[in-house]
Amino acid sequence: MRKILVTGGCGYIGSHTVVDLNDNGFQAISADNFSNSYRKITEGISDLIGKPHQNYDVDLCDLDTTERIFQENPDIEAVIHFAAYIYVPESVTNPIRYYRNNLNNLLNVLECCVKYNVSNFIFSSSCAVYGDAEDLPVTENTPFGEAECSYARTKQMGELIIRDFCYANPSFNAVLLRYFNPAGSHESSKIGEAPILENTHLVPIITEVASGHREKMAVYGTDYPTRDGSCIRDYIHVMDLAHAHTKAVDFLKEGRNDSNCEVFNLGIGNGVTVLEAIQAFEKINQVKLNYTLGERRAGDIAAIYANPTRAQEILNWTPKRNIEDIVKSAWDWERNKDWLIQ
Ligand code: UFG
Repeated sequence: MRKILVTGGCGYIGSHTVVDLNDNGFQAISADNFSNSYRKITEGISDLIGKPHQNYDVDLCDLDTTERIFQENPDIEAVIHFAAYIYVPESVTNPIRYYRNNLNNLLNVLECCVKYNVSNFIFSSSCAVYGDAEDLPVTENTPFGEAECSYARTKQMGELIIRDFCYANPSFNAVLLRYFNPAGSHESSKIGEAPILENTHLVPIITEVASGHREKMAVYGTDYPTRDGSCIRDYIHVMDLAHAHTKAVDFLKEGRNDSNCEVFNLGIGNGVTVLEAIQAFEKINQVKLNYTLGERRAGDIAAIYANPTRAQEILNWTPKRNIEDIVKSAWDWERNKDWLIQ
């Protein structure tokens, strides 16, 4: 069995990746301290993988406990490193928390990789590294922009740390995956986006308003220079995103990488406005959404979307789902998730 360590593997994207790895013949174990996920999510994962999911409930900022995972699992072939704090507004008000967690846990995991001869590493990066890019769509060659927040800067710094690490360790292979806007849920509705902390992402806010779990929502800005005045993003279904990680592991294990630090954009390449996302939700689910047209949100950029050609051609990754699949699966999950958060 090919064993993969998934840090943050009980979180939103991590849990979908654990399931996708399992579906493709890997054994995924995780390290997750449930700082932003419910413990019961392991029941959903276990149900989908058909056996009890093995998770280490550890803080990866502690080097000794991190090391124990590697000692107990000498057969780890690759690490997929999701574990990180992810909320843009929180990172603006509490940057130290973000730098401390997102950088320390990365350093510890890298240190363990080299010490325990794990030479394949996949990193969760973000389109946030591009900042407010002028030329759209962005390619992997688009330079880093001015980071909009500390969260984005931890992703830029994380990438730079990994680059240095790869340079110093030529036999170490990394893939940096820059996600655009992950959304939607597993088609089974057994796992989905369910953070403990206050969610600020568009799609779960839409479903929470529709279900009555949240009172109201606003479209943040309708005076942007876009086709309908609201912001444009590249929403990528979480199941497609999860599958890209499995593809990235295959890519490294088969030695298809040209350099020992490769970068890929993970989006579908289509920009969708906030108003279009809301309309898609209303149309597919036949639910009327109560929303207002509001002011711009601080820190938002008008538009960003990916050129995903590189991932499609080199990782052989083809996203299969669109915004309609996203809002449908997110709504199915919203109506199924009460067991988790009780
Ligand atoms: N939005 C609303 N109303 C809401 C919530 C969001 O109109 O109630 C809008 C936002 O203004 C934005 C769009 O919906 O235009 C998407 O917002 P999200 O918060 O869902 O996502 P962001 O694009 O702000 O954030 C994403 C990732 C971050 C990453 C960032 C980089 O989730 O991790 O892209 O641009 F840092």
